[in-house]
Amino acid sequence: MDGQRFSLLHCLLIHGFLSALLVTIGVSQSDKRSYVIYMGNPPKAGTATASLHNSMLQDVLGSESATKSVLCSYRRSFNGFVAELTEEEARKMAGMNGVVSVFPNEKRILHTTRSWDFMGFSQQVQRATSESDVIIGVLDTGIWPESQSFNDEGLSPPPDKWKGICQDANNITCNNKIIGARYYKSDGLFGSNDIISPRDSEGHGTHTASTAAGRLVNRANLFGLGAGTARGGVPSARIAVYKICWSDGCSDADILAAFDDAIADGVDIISLSVGSATPKDYFRDSIAIGAFHAMRNGILTVTSAGNRGPRRATITNFSPWTLSVAASTIDRKFFTGVKLGNDVVYEGVSINTFDLKNETYPMIYGGDAPNPIGNYTSSSSGICLENSLDPNLVKGKIVLCDRFVSGEGPLIAGAVGALLRDNSPKDVAFSFVLPASHLDLVDGSKIFVYINSTSNATATIFKSNEVNDTRAPYVASFSSRGPNPITPEILKPDLSAPGVDIVAAWSLASPVSQNRGDNRWVPFNIISGTSMACPHVSAAAAYIKSFHPTWSPSAIKSSLITTASPMSSGMNSDAEFAYGSGHLNPIKAINPGLIYDSSEVDYINFLCGQGYDTRFLRQVTRDNATCSAGTNGTVLSDLNYPSFAVFTSSSTTVRRVFNRTVTNVGSPMATYRARVSFPTRTARVRVNPNVLSFTSVGQKLSFQVIIEGTMDASIVSGSLVWDDGAHKARSPIVVFASIS
Ligand SMILES: *[C@@H]1O[C@H](CO)[C@@H](O)[C@H](O)[C@H]1NC(C)=O
Ligand SMILES: *[C@@H]1O[C@H](CO)[C@@H](O)[C@H](O)[C@H]1NC(C)=O
Ligand SMILES: *[C@@H]1O[C@H](CO)[C@@H](O)[C@H](O)[C@H]1NC(C)=O
Ligand SMILES: *[C@@H]1O[C@H](CO)[C@@H](O)[C@H](O)[C@H]1NC(C)=O
Ligand SMILES: *[C@@H]1O[C@H](CO)[C@@H](O)[C@H](O)[C@H]1NC(C)=O
Ligand SMILES: *[C@@H]1O[C@H](CO)[C@@H](O)[C@H](O)[C@H]1NC(C)=O
Ligand SMILES: *[C@@H]1O[C@H](CO)[C@@H](O)[C@H](O)[C@H]1NC(C)=O
Ligand SMILES: *[C@@H]1O[C@H](CO)[C@@H](O)[C@H](O)[C@H]1NC(C)=O
Ligand SMILES: *[C@@H]1O[C@H](CO)[C@@H](O)[C@H](O)[C@H]1NC(C)=O
Repeated sequence: MDGQRFSLLHCLLIHGFLSALLVTIGVSQSDKRSYVIYMGNPPKAGTATASLHNSMLQDVLGSESATKSVLCSYRRSFNGFVAELTEEEARKMAGMNGVVSVFPNEKRILHTTRSWDFMGFSQQVQRATSESDVIIGVLDTGIWPESQSFNDEGLSPPPDKWKGICQDANNITCNNKIIGARYYKSDGLFGSNDIISPRDSEGHGTHTASTAAGRLVNRANLFGLGAGTARGGVPSARIAVYKICWSDGCSDADILAAFDDAIADGVDIISLSVGSATPKDYFRDSIAIGAFHAMRNGILTVTSAGNRGPRRATITNFSPWTLSVAASTIDRKFFTGVKLGNDVVYEGVSINTFDLKNETYPMIYGGDAPNPIGNYTSSSSGICLENSLDPNLVKGKIVLCDRFVSGEGPLIAGAVGALLRDNSPKDVAFSFVLPASHLDLVDGSKIFVYINSTSNATATIFKSNEVNDTRAPYVASFSSRGPNPITPEILKPDLSAPGVDIVAAWSLASPVSQNRGDNRWVPFNIISGTSMACPHVSAAAAYIKSFHPTWSPSAIKSSLITTASPMSSGMNSDAEFAYGSGHLNPIKAINPGLIYDSSEVDYINFLCGQGYDTRFLRQVTRDNATCSAGTNGTVLSDLNYPSFAVFTSSSTTVRRVFNRTVTNVGSPMATYRARVSFPTRTARVRVNPNVLSFTSVGQKLSFQVIIEGTMDASIVSGSLVWDDGAHKARSPIVVFASIS
């Protein structure tokens, strides 16, 4: 599997990959395209935003009817609109008063319940009564409200602060679990499978929402696989649904519309398992913009890192005011055995719910069955492309394919099963539309030799079995890696959470493999992606919020980062660029001892350091935000971030000073000592002072971390732990010499 396959969905679904591919091939007929005109914080109440948008458009378009061209207006939580413009018109618009940025409205991609127990977060953990006051806004493909995961038994009516609505009550009924549901499709172009309501026809949004805040459902399973109690991390928290993703992807216009509403509706945490294929500057990225305004309103946005690993610098959600989540494995792995007619058994990786009952079927190699209709050659039938296989030769047989494919090609040709062989990583199990197993090249070659050696080759494919993977957790190969492509000095991803083979609720409008010809309609499904890791962290953030309702977004984020369990660079060659600070630990996160807090002013200073000037930032904030003289380029390392990253060149001397301030949220009287680990002889890390003595809760103390020396490796991973005997606040320290 190459990285590209994963670049389209933050959830790894083969069908989604294919349909998204078709979308990007489509070429616009006119020279106009849709642009987002972003204008920062909303103006004072009472200003007629919509008429302002129309008159701006009129100024640019001249006589043309402007009202027709405003596709959406944002005004509740920030200011802006979407319009059809030529490139020239977009340039003009960008120069207008009040406009922060103008960027094309592009399509984003989507990126149990053993996972909670695996993290030591049992059903019996301590719960705050205010858990039911916490509202998680899930921006995704919608929801299947009838799922048992969303029953509202015993839940009180929504908290008073809630201002959202349940749109389209005909098709969706909200309850005390799903307290709001809206949908957005600004271009009005629906696919045949889209349900025009917040109802989920895809499965992804139902899966992520139930992972975050699903109720307990006993005996959940997928045809017996992954059986257990399904549950979200905060079963009493409320869910607010914002459907932004459809069969053709998730547009910037709709993502911004959802942020505009979610912030004003009163959600506490935003969970967003969606991202772009390429990194974008902070104020040309709808997710970074939406999350910035969420942060200003006290709301933490949790995002998926992306599924474009294992290459470096492939992370797509990396703004410092969001939390970016990598995906790691849990201790349950699915294998699918294949037994050949010569009695040899091979173990491949897949989620195979089909039971062939030990019956053997004849085998054929795809390359030996090119379809004469359409002039297919054995090179295309060898990789089992759709229509490439000759049904006369393939019908009733198990086909060996030279590539990881969805299985639709073999299914259409009448095959009984498929064996896929390639050299891609086997750390994720996929569902296929027919019995199938995904094998490595060594076993795949032996199977090929067997087929080639006899005229009556046969095989059977077993139903999948579950194996305890005691090496877990390690970061999945598909999980996007850091460093942060725009600001390498801010370590991303922030942390890792379970995102491989996760059992959670599913849409009854979407079959198990999401492929045509699949007739398995199920209430729970097993899927993988950083999309699945993200809601685990959203739930943990909500869990913290239920104990500490007044904590800022960055305080919650700091708690999650500094309490994550360390992961090892031995198991993960990209070290912190794979897992950030480590593996999510929700129980420790409610009691971090110290927090690295940052306010909006700190982020503004960070942006000044990134080269944004006062004029630009005032357009974003509509207040007196100021870059003090000399801050351009000088304060990057001083954002009060709970990790330390230094980008250097291996040949030069490193000297970097980090200023940090921690707030005591543990015991009033506490003495923390700094413990540094930095495994290199050529550089050292000093902490000054290295003892912090607190005398009250809420007290802030500052210190410096000084890194000096030269590099003897392309990446050196260390850590700073502040330890008072009862709490350990751990921050990763990474010094690295190259981005890619
Ligand atoms: C919801 O509406 C869609 C059409 O938009 C329809 O196909 C579907 O059956 C409806 N579902 C329910 C549960 O009413
Ligand atoms: C294939 O057929 C040959 C002879 O026709 C027989 O000896 C052999 O056992 C068969 N092999 C399998 C796997 O059925
Ligand atoms: C399949 O056959 C093997 C022996 O060949 C036996 O051990 C196994 O239990 C059988 N499985 C089923 C599902 O019949
Ligand atoms: C198949 O190939 C033959 C000879 O190369 C050609 O004449 C014919 O048009 C091709 N058919 C299709 C469907 O491409
Ligand atoms: C397949 O079999 C043929 C003869 O039966 C042999 O020449 C060829 O080398 C075999 N191919 C492989 C890859 O084993
Ligand atoms: C896997 O094994 C470990 C240790 O041997 C155990 O703690 C864990 O519960 C097992 N996991 C499963 C899913 O059985
Ligand atoms: C900030 O510094 C960079 C180079 O260090 C320069 O290109 C940029 O114009 C400066 N920005 C401002 C607003 O001064
Ligand atoms: C900005 O305005 C706020 C109040 O709106 C005030 O507290 C703050 O001191 C001002 N900052 C500057 C730099 O003027
Ligand atoms: C860090 O803090 C020290 C005082 O503790 C201050 O002198 C220094 O200017 C600060 N560094 C930066 C880069 O702002």
